[in-house]
Amino acid sequence: MNLFRTKPVLDDGEKSGLRKVLGPIDLTLMGIGCIIGAGIFVLTGQAAALHAGPAIVLSFVAAGIACAFSALAYAELASTIGGCGSAYGYGYATLGEIVGWIIGWDLILEYGFGVSTVAVGWAGYMNNALTAVGIHLPVAITAAPGAGGTVNLLAILVVAVVTVLLCIGTKLSARFNGIMVAIKLIVLLIFIGVAIFFIKPELWHPFIPERVAHALNNPANGPAYGWTGIMTGAATVFFAYIGFDSVSTAAEETRNPQRNVPIGIIGSLVICTLLYIVVSGLLTGIVSYQSLNTASPISDALIQLGIKSMAGLVAVGAIAGLTTVCLVLFFGLTRIFLAMSRDGLLPPMFSSVNKKTGTPIRVIILSGIIMAIVAGFTPIDKLASLVNIGTLAAFTVVCAGVIWLRYKRPDLLRPFRTPFTPLFPALGVLSCIALMLFLPSITWIVFVIWLIVGLFVYGFYGYRNSVVAKSS
Ligand code: ALA
Repeated sequence: MNLFRTKPVLDDGEKSGLRKVLGPIDLTLMGIGCIIGAGIFVLTGQAAALHAGPAIVLSFVAAGIACAFSALAYAELASTIGGCGSAYGYGYATLGEIVGWIIGWDLILEYGFGVSTVAVGWAGYMNNALTAVGIHLPVAITAAPGAGGTVNLLAILVVAVVTVLLCIGTKLSARFNGIMVAIKLIVLLIFIGVAIFFIKPELWHPFIPERVAHALNNPANGPAYGWTGIMTGAATVFFAYIGFDSVSTAAEETRNPQRNVPIGIIGSLVICTLLYIVVSGLLTGIVSYQSLNTASPISDALIQLGIKSMAGLVAVGAIAGLTTVCLVLFFGLTRIFLAMSRDGLLPPMFSSVNKKTGTPIRVIILSGIIMAIVAGFTPIDKLASLVNIGTLAAFTVVCAGVIWLRYKRPDLLRPFRTPFTPLFPALGVLSCIALMLFLPSITWIVFVIWLIVGLFVYGFYGYRNSVVAKSS
């Protein structure tokens, strides 16, 4: 039994058939394309209404700090180890195969369920946009069973569209992403520009509302506000930051990845953090936080102010923005499959790249179908918490991996070094674990079940077919 066998560091020479087409600007745009999405457009409103109140700004700061430590760790491992597969590859090369497998299995949860979560957010804004132009879809086909409907057809539709885009090709998708990112940023800037003139400072008092037994007087929402609420809010809006890590999944399609991947990761995280703090602060400053528990809170806030045209514009931007998030998360998922399959931990069909398009078409379609089904039948909050717990677990291991690799392989060339190691990565580990502790117990239960299933898959397939095992 050798569960801790590692794969060699710096295996960039592996041939996958993927084309090296991405540069630093592509990567930063890809990061932003993935980061700004359902988190800011949907979950911020719900987290403010149900957990943190105006102090949602502090939730964003808390979650941002955990992400900043992790981003530095990602940048170091991406520049030192490289290769596609992101945290999976780093875990495998540093802490051993079983750890790599667990992170990989975890990332499948993050990216796969992430696509579904964002698709549900997209559907909320789309449904509102349709209503605004007089098309009223019955609730039975616009919401999942847990959210008052039967099936969310709009969410299924967007997963299908993104599946087709990804099949067509990487570079085309990156260009499409660039346009959508521009639209998304412009819309958020317009929101900021308009909202600034409608601030009512009294809405920020009390900034940290008192702790109550049930948020908005609904027992289903659980206790809220106070410092616990801020931390629960942070564990929720953590979702808004997810995505900078997906930049590292594209390392293999990047020119000079040692320099460009850290630029993409840190650049996109910094830009988004600033935007989030400003947008969430304004949102609770223009309308009461208690009115924000809706499927499209940013547009709805503008409607409350009576500026319907702006609300429409924001909805269009959100729809564009959420599409790019789906696209990049899905892209990340396929690359993780690719890396795990190439290492023999998943069957070969997960890494077969179509010669004509240069993309792994079969696995894109298969995962597209599964994610569409999940998106059609699950409410957004359940999905988001699961994605968050999986991602926080992966971030924890990445931070630990930096410390371990410094100790075990001090000789490696590290084009990017995390400052104040081991302090910063250790704070990364602690802050990610702290956020995980604020997630609901049902999320923990489903997460543990997911991991156990993963260990069975590893025992029956990966352990026996591992390329590293065969070659030794
Ligand atoms: N950060 C991404 C979002 O908020 C996943 O949608």
